[in-house]
Amino acid sequence: MGNKIVVANLKMNLNVVQVSEYLKKINKNINNKNVIICPTSIYIPYFLKQNYKVGIQNIFYKDKGAFTGEISPNQASSIGIEYVIIGHSERRKKFFEKNDEINKKIKASLENDLKVILCIGESIEEHDLLKTNKVIENQITLALRNIKDLTNVIIAYEPIWTIGTNVIPSFKEINNVTKFIKSVILKINFNIDIKVLYGGSVNEFNIEEIIKNTFVDGVLVGDVSIDADKLLKIIEVTC
Ligand code: PGA
Repeated sequence: MGNKIVVANLKMNLNVVQVSEYLKKINKNINNKNVIICPTSIYIPYFLKQNYKVGIQNIFYKDKGAFTGEISPNQASSIGIEYVIIGHSERRKKFFEKNDEINKKIKASLENDLKVILCIGESIEEHDLLKTNKVIENQITLALRNIKDLTNVIIAYEPIWTIGTNVIPSFKEINNVTKFIKSVILKINFNIDIKVLYGGSVNEFNIEEIIKNTFVDGVLVGDVSIDADKLLKIIEVTC
């Protein structure tokens, strides 16, 4: 239908047996460079060199050294990973990632030729207090501080209250925030029409309506993307 982007964030799901079943389905059926699959890091090598792109779900900002358990942008790009998700609300909330650290991760990733998918979004309290725009502007400004070239940055608007909850905002809300994000980017002097994705409870049932009724440049799919058949349906409608 469209020519938009689908990011599949598999999070910490699927073991090696399940990954192999998953790969059988997606490798045969996905032939689209607008699809970015982000598996759990240890399985990434199994996903490379196919007819889709591969992303990593997190990254550290140092190049190398004594940082047990971390992965550097250089290590990631050197095996053919093209994208990195940064600032996901689960990392902000459960791993206490702050905007300053997110900014460092973005800089290091761009310097190492990784394309960045920056996740932003408000909590339910902020939403209900009508603070969405304020929160988002703050997240964008801090995350992108001192970054001049945004050619390789995509923004994923993911309201925290819609992640894994089966609730999505109204299409009007998605459109308003998308427009607002683009205007913030222009305001802080980035002369670019940045791509904005929507994420949060996207599924095989609501995808058609989302694509039809909003002007987002694509979607970021979490839980539902673990089911290859459902992901394929979402790709068919979106890309
Ligand atoms: P969800 O997650 O699709 O499971 O709501 C989206 C995300 O966390 O990026």
